[in-house]
Amino acid sequence: MSLQLKPLQPFAAEASGIDLRRPLTPEQVKEIEHAMDTHAVLVWRNQPLTQDEQIAFAKALGPLDLGLRKLKGGPHRFKYAELADISNVKVDGEVADREHAKIVGNVANQLWHSDSSFQKPRAKYSMLSAVTVPGFGGETEFADLRMAYDALPDWRKKQVEGLHALHYALHSRFLLGDTNYTEEQKNSIPPASWPLVQVDPRSGRRILFVGVHACQVEGMTLAEGRMLLLDLLEHATQREFVYQHHWQVGDLVMWDNTATVHRGRWFDFAERRELRRATTEEVPA
Ligand code: OGA
Ligand code: MN
Repeated sequence: MSLQLKPLQPFAAEASGIDLRRPLTPEQVKEIEHAMDTHAVLVWRNQPLTQDEQIAFAKALGPLDLGLRKLKGGPHRFKYAELADISNVKVDGEVADREHAKIVGNVANQLWHSDSSFQKPRAKYSMLSAVTVPGFGGETEFADLRMAYDALPDWRKKQVEGLHALHYALHSRFLLGDTNYTEEQKNSIPPASWPLVQVDPRSGRRILFVGVHACQVEGMTLAEGRMLLLDLLEHATQREFVYQHHWQVGDLVMWDNTATVHRGRWFDFAERRELRRATTEEVPA
């Protein structure tokens, strides 16, 4: 069977017809990439993957990204450093206390962002697999940055054309008051500069590339640049550009970080929530 797509409002799609546990054929890779060019978020239901299967699936779609594990090594629950532990669970398998260092990462994920936009190469596809979901809340939302660009008024399109923003790994942590980093850690991932307006090389669509990692607009004062970034992010994340995903165990949701931003929604940190993420790096065209 080949890939089936059922559009979800306003831009995502539910995908089926391919067993993600099995090696992908070159044709299936092309079908998935094509669907991602169009929808930017694909939701696969009932596809619980083992760690090995998730890594194999991600590798078929590009080189793997390590994200923030470059910065903070430390003990890890998974067999692969390339699997990000998107959970409130400690290495010993117990739910972390609210004061535990891990929880701030959970909170930071509730700010609108694009994975690894603070580095070059940045993340292309993120593939998040649901292992344990809380009884209430903990949805993930996605906003389409192509729809956001298209909806900008002409004066704004002119204003942002040619501007570049600096994206810094720890900006979201600083915003949350998590400032306990050594100078070495602060400097180990220097900010990455990205154009605010980008053209997707495959679909030809324009993208308003914003998110919480963006902390400065080059050539503008800090205050004016930050205000512009806040305004643009507010514009980009209006309800009409947002798909909200309600997790079920066994879901695999994948998204294109170059065309969307995402955030987790509130859940009670006393409840267990476990997701596992594999991420590919963008390969420049
Ligand atoms: C991520 C992320 C949000 C969530 O996995 O990259 O931001 O809802 N997750 O857990
Ligand atoms: Mn993320």
